[in-house]
Amino acid sequence: MLRILGIETSCDDTAVGLIEINDEIDELNNVKILSNVISSQNHLHSKYGGIVPEIAARSHLALLPKIVDDVLKKNNLKITDINLIGYTENPGLLSSLLIGINFGKALGFSNNIPTFGVNHIKAHLLVNFMNKKLEFPSFGLIISGGHTELWYLESIDKYQLLIKTADDAIGEFFDKVGRVMNLPFPGGPHIEKIASTTNEIIPMTLPKILSFSGLKTRFTKLVEEAVPINKICKTMEVISTELIIKNIKQFIKKDELLIVGGGVSANEYLRKELGKNFRVSFVSKDLCTDNGVMIAYTAFLEMLS
Ligand code: KG4
Ligand code: ZN
Repeated sequence: MLRILGIETSCDDTAVGLIEINDEIDELNNVKILSNVISSQNHLHSKYGGIVPEIAARSHLALLPKIVDDVLKKNNLKITDINLIGYTENPGLLSSLLIGINFGKALGFSNNIPTFGVNHIKAHLLVNFMNKKLEFPSFGLIISGGHTELWYLESIDKYQLLIKTADDAIGEFFDKVGRVMNLPFPGGPHIEKIASTTNEIIPMTLPKILSFSGLKTRFTKLVEEAVPINKICKTMEVISTELIIKNIKQFIKKDELLIVGGGVSANEYLRKELGKNFRVSFVSKDLCTDNGVMIAYTAFLEMLS
């Protein structure tokens, strides 16, 4: 039995995951999640209207040892029962990443446990294969607060970027307009909830390229013009989904697999529409947003490859 600890501190959430995998290395279908702890720092940053890197880093430092300790205790394990430690290496806020990297490496070094630095975007995508058969080539769509990108995945370590947003990420669009509407941070889940109260859509044309900054300005103006919030939220969901589908459709042929990851992939409307257009794979909602399980699982896959 392999036990893998995953540490994720790329942004403002402190996340630790613990998974257990059968010893038979080629058996990828038997991953058990022992713990998936996500400690949100939203309350610390909300009064500043965005993430303050120094606060995020200090909070990761204070929380990580305690969370890892709790995770081990809850599972009746000692640190020496862990076989591998994965930590997010990039991309992310440098000061936040450094805490997770140093903590993960030090924990491994002092207990003689191998460690592995994981790419956060890859982890959001590859977690789709947990308890499924790996399938390559496939396409990976990452839609989060920091990224909106389509990748061609040839294998675990061979990737090619096909298209990415020219400016803001889709999640940033939701969060920034959410702030103008006085919604709590992050705005995405609140916008989804409000959007579900109507089917009315404000007519508008799609941006010519994959870009969210013009939409951000357009929707900010609609809020200022006192257009009903539920119509605004519904239209945001619809237009951003249409924009994504239009821009990725050119790359993906019928029956090719599209794996989707990142916080915005929790959105039900987007899931439904992507499902109508592609053979698509999503993860459960607790694994869509930043988490340590995806880091642990990706560290495992990288060790195998
Ligand atoms: O992957 P993630 O947790 O962090 C980053 O790596 O950025 O994604 C966070 C983003 C936020 O922008 C948040 O508003 C968005 O995911 N999000 C959603 C939903 N849940 C989270 N957006 C739309 N609908 C949701 N249900
Ligand atoms: Zn993320």
